[in-house]
Amino acid sequence: MNILVTGGAGYIGSHTCISLQMAGHSVIVVDNLCNSKVDTLNKVRQITDKEITFYQMDVTDETAMEKIFSNHHIDGVIHFAGLKAVGESVLEPSKYYYNNIVSTIILAKVCLKYNVWRFVFSSSATVYGDNEAPFNENMPLLPTTNPYGETKAMSERILTDIVKANPAFSVSLLRYFNPVGAHESGLIGEAPNGIPNNLMPYVTQVAKGKIEKLKVLGNDYSTVDGTGVRDYIHVMDLAEGHVAALDNLTEGIHIYNLGTGQGTSVLELVKAFEQANDIVVPYEIGGRRPGDIASCYANTSKAKRELGWTAKRNIIDMCRDAWRFEKNYKE
Ligand code: NAD
Ligand code: UFG
Repeated sequence: MNILVTGGAGYIGSHTCISLQMAGHSVIVVDNLCNSKVDTLNKVRQITDKEITFYQMDVTDETAMEKIFSNHHIDGVIHFAGLKAVGESVLEPSKYYYNNIVSTIILAKVCLKYNVWRFVFSSSATVYGDNEAPFNENMPLLPTTNPYGETKAMSERILTDIVKANPAFSVSLLRYFNPVGAHESGLIGEAPNGIPNNLMPYVTQVAKGKIEKLKVLGNDYSTVDGTGVRDYIHVMDLAEGHVAALDNLTEGIHIYNLGTGQGTSVLELVKAFEQANDIVVPYEIGGRRPGDIASCYANTSKAKRELGWTAKRNIIDMCRDAWRFEKNYKE
């Protein structure tokens, strides 16, 4: 199939381009490069030895999207393009609501106009709010603590309504847990701008000596050791989950958790990183981060049952691959 990948130069999108090409699909990327570099696509080409068509355009620009859809026969869309910094979304809510909601509406509208019936959307486990883990797809969407999370819940609702009005539209809402790690080649990975918000890139930068020590954000949660528990998933497993979702897509709206089902605490992740890479990660205990929950992990049985997909890589693989990328990465 010819797949349009929005946000394909970004972290998860670029890894998914690899999995799509390895599965025999052709890839067209649209990205405005607001949080990525075009060179990442050259690395993808180097890994797969296949061509990628690239458009540097904004998904909120309907005319530009129409141009792409009229230039190519597109069989399906994976919509990664979005802004994702939780803290920034609190400071600049309208920027987040505009970018993340308008891009989703325009893309769905153009898909329907050009008879493109397959649509896969990047959602997040954040839509479960403070439901009790393990989270399953039948749980109600609960309010999230920030505008970023709200854009994901709203996009899910908008796409659900569009499917109700257009029953032939086939949409998969993929709720990611905590994507980490990098492609095994070490050529592409997660390279956030400035000080990382998320745990794994923070740990790799401490290991590299760019940051002095990790601050563990709270050790008084009711978890195995008091630190926050998350369901870390290797980005290549996540990428393969997208191919499975696309290949198994049928009419209607479908929701899948993409996680491992395994919870790991902050201190367990630090220990795994030290063990995988034979390196010490200095840390200190700090206070809780506002909005954080104690535990977030997936019930993964629906994706296994309906998509035949499960995550294969473990926490040691994630730590090893994240470090291999960071070690060699030059800004
Ligand atoms: P990323 O920032 O690395 O990738 C997003 C890409 O989209 C970037 O390349 C950016 O330049 C592009 N982009 C943003 N707005 C655009 C627009 N209007 N037009 C064109 N391009 C645009 O982020 P990521 O980690 O790869 O995340 C991909 C998707 O998955 C996002 O929608 C994100 O919200 C979602 N998600 C990510 C995580 C995570 O922890 N990384 C968790 C859950 C969900
Ligand atoms: N943490 C630290 N120190 C840090 C950063 C994080 O101890 O410097 C802790 C957090 O308190 C949390 C755990 O590490 O317990 C994971 O934190 P992340 O920031 O890596 O991930 P979150 O689960 O908080 O958030 C991520 C994405 C959100 C997404 C959410 C649910 O950043 O966009 O997963 O999918 F909504």
